[in-house]
Amino acid sequence: MKQHFGGPWTHLKLTVLKQYLTRYVLALKNQRFYKVYIDSFAGDGTIATKTGLVLEGSAKIALDTEGFDEYIFIEKSEQNIHALRNLCDSYPTKTVRLLSGDANRQIKEWIASAANIRGLRGVAFFDPFGMELAWDTLECVAETHALDVWYWFPLSGLYRQTPRSRDKISDDKIASVTKLFGTDQWLRDFYSETPQMSFFENQPDYVRADVQFLEKLDERPVGNHLSCSRTTLTLAPNRCTVVFALFCSVKS
Ligand SMILES: C[S@@+](CC[C@H](N)C(=O)[O-])C[C@H]1O[C@@H](n2cnc3c(N)ncnc32)[C@H](O)[C@@H]1O
Repeated sequence: MKQHFGGPWTHLKLTVLKQYLTRYVLALKNQRFYKVYIDSFAGDGTIATKTGLVLEGSAKIALDTEGFDEYIFIEKSEQNIHALRNLCDSYPTKTVRLLSGDANRQIKEWIASAANIRGLRGVAFFDPFGMELAWDTLECVAETHALDVWYWFPLSGLYRQTPRSRDKISDDKIASVTKLFGTDQWLRDFYSETPQMSFFENQPDYVRADVQFLEKLDERPVGNHLSCSRTTLTLAPNRCTVVFALFCSVKS
């Protein structure tokens, strides 16, 4: 059965992707690069949103963009791999690699195998449902010095994993957020004490950081690897809490 997810912000995300891919291939048109598009959470080519919209998914958008030499789609769901295979069959002139399994493992293996591709350039799109993308995978991508990155950061997942009170966060949640950020330093930076004490427990109250906290990632070594230019697009569907953030890092 097809999964329903997303909403109006999904349309915005995919519009941004489409425009970026179009401009990317145009900008590199006369350069002798081997251009790849990598979609690590590729879906099945269409999206049925919870609000009833049916949209072309990222894989289809990429396949419709002329100018890439190779398309790499990674998907964990066998059902989606099957649908992607059917989709790709309708683009017989395109070179497509379908990789089934966990994105973190598959993209690292592909990067290792791509070490001898001369003039590699590309766009890597990361669009997980939740906190599946590990920071060390982003580091691995950054070390290629060849790939622009678009990352649909799971801000809402992060908030779900992190209770308002720092003292209530469980070890497994700490571990999953640490995997997301690649360090446990977030535990110090993410929460800050409020001046007043909590009423019942005589303990300090904490305030969780907002999306600006994520923008500080720029200051970390992987930020330096990734960025010569970074953009963050934040979306606040209910007009007060930013729930989604789309990060872009462009290879220098
Ligand atoms: C938000 S959807 C992607 C939507 C897609 N980008 C599109 O525009 O159509 C996330 C996808 O990631 C897949 N997925 C979840 N965990 C994964 C993992 N660890 N590795 C690879 N794919 C995964 C899911 O099966 C799902 O299809």
